[in-house]
Amino acid sequence: MNVIRTLKELHQFVIEKKQAGKEIGFVPTMGFLHEGHISLIHLSKKYADVTIASIYINPSQFNDLNDFNKYPKNEEGDLRLLRVNFCDAAFIPERAQIDSLQKVSIDLGGLDMIMEGICRPGHFQGVVEVVYRLFSVVMPDKAFFGEKDFQQLQIIKKMVETLKLPVEIIGAPILREFNGLAMSSRNSRLSKKARDNAGFIYEVLKSFVNTERQILEKRLFESGFTLEYLEKHDFGGQRRLFIAGVYDGVRLIDNIELN
Ligand code: PAF
Repeated sequence: MNVIRTLKELHQFVIEKKQAGKEIGFVPTMGFLHEGHISLIHLSKKYADVTIASIYINPSQFNDLNDFNKYPKNEEGDLRLLRVNFCDAAFIPERAQIDSLQKVSIDLGGLDMIMEGICRPGHFQGVVEVVYRLFSVVMPDKAFFGEKDFQQLQIIKKMVETLKLPVEIIGAPILREFNGLAMSSRNSRLSKKARDNAGFIYEVLKSFVNTERQILEKRLFESGFTLEYLEKHDFGGQRRLFIAGVYDGVRLIDNIELN
């Protein structure tokens, strides 16, 4: 696997593959990889000829400096996981390189005025900014994003549509731990006990349709979960239920499809 740290090396790698007629699949990440990310690598390997994963903790999408500083890191472990899963290249840029790229700011048509957009002001403009910048240098044909960040996935699709970018955005289902907790790099910040008990979040989502909201809120409260939102939204004809809140000092989000 190629470990690429500069824009120049990345450009050479990408141009060489494009000239050879290869389709590039891209998996942008902030590192501390888990099975959810690896499922995106596998999808990319299935649908594209060459897979590039990026590892970059993007400061502009954190509205809380403390959250940014505490974001887990393990570059060595990430590279090992990418290698054993046959990723072709890992792009690990320095902040100055990303900052040197042109940025974009677009009207997200209200998609950023609900849920995460309200709880984390500026978050989605930060995501759009970095994903646009990464796309401009990776030049992917296809890019893969997890449905755990379902609102983010819609926003990336909106950006691609608005700017008419030549990239297909593919969403992948949420992977869950043994108890139903949605896989996330942030789970590593939960205590063992909290992580083992955190299955109640998924259970609340699953029982939403048949249970009074008050009962669900009580269950969350009694489990030590500080609820930020529990809301239904329609995206492109698909109805989903979303939850966010703080548990054991860690902010967690999850969602399920409602049929
Ligand atoms: O989902 C993430 O990990 C990040 O928001 C992303 C897409 C890598 C942009 O920094």
